[in-house]
Amino acid sequence: MEDAELYANSNAFQKRDTSMVLSEFMPLMNWSNDDEILDVGAGSGDVTRNLLWPGCVKFDRIVGIDRSQKMVNYAREHFENERLSFEQMDIADAVQPINVFPRGFTKIFSFFCLHWIQKQRKAISNLYQLLRPGGTCLLVFLARNPVFDMYERLAKNPRWAPYMNDLDKFIPIHQYSTDAATDFRATLENCGFRVLSCEAPEFSYVFENLNYLRDCLKAVNPFVNRMPQEEQNDYMIDCLKELQNMKTPLVDGKMVSKYNLL
Ligand SMILES: C[S@@+](CC[C@H](N)C(=O)[O-])C[C@H]1O[C@@H](n2cnc3c(N)ncnc32)[C@H](O)[C@@H]1O
Repeated sequence: MEDAELYANSNAFQKRDTSMVLSEFMPLMNWSNDDEILDVGAGSGDVTRNLLWPGCVKFDRIVGIDRSQKMVNYAREHFENERLSFEQMDIADAVQPINVFPRGFTKIFSFFCLHWIQKQRKAISNLYQLLRPGGTCLLVFLARNPVFDMYERLAKNPRWAPYMNDLDKFIPIHQYSTDAATDFRATLENCGFRVLSCEAPEFSYVFENLNYLRDCLKAVNPFVNRMPQEEQNDYMIDCLKELQNMKTPLVDGKMVSKYNLL
């Protein structure tokens, strides 16, 4: 996913959930004017600036990192200021990220990023390295979403298979886990974290119309940009058809998505 403009205009469900989680957990944290905050997988930067920033009671500075240089460029252009900056970094590939951010951070947040990462243990141990002793982390990401079942089905279609041959890289590691919360808690503890809360509740989101759902799906689809422009529309129509075949509930023409968030 590299189309920052499309993502920034099609991330209502991610923003709804991030707002809910922030309103639950931010009041429980201790805040200081010296807080240095990291947002991992900041994407287009709008969540960092418009949700995370106002949710932080006090702070010194916020840094957003993302593995995509295009996302970082967009976030810089639209949201950077003297207390908010964006840097390119892949949290799963970074070797000694503390060398890049030698002071570390007092709080680390990440929204809708970690399900993109297969090497989750490496990513979590990098977060641990970047968190100052006594710091706090709040991580929110998909444990399971029917969209990934939809990818599995589309990858069997001979028309789309050539574009989806590395599908496994994009199926979140918790998608088929029977107890994602216990699995993820173990990863956190193995990396040194003391876990205050780790849950994977079910959420649902109503997409008001199929055009908006198509844009939301396209904004996070890792395969569609590999296709020639003239194929992309048919592919997105097949994505929607597959979701309907999977009995994703439709209410008054609106599609209801049910998924689990860690
Ligand atoms: C769905 S967007 C979420 C953006 C924003 N946090 C939000 O909630 O709207 C996921 C972002 O995570 C980034 N990402 C994926 N894997 C990453 C990694 N290993 N390191 C850093 N960023 C990563 C992607 O480039 C993308 O911009």
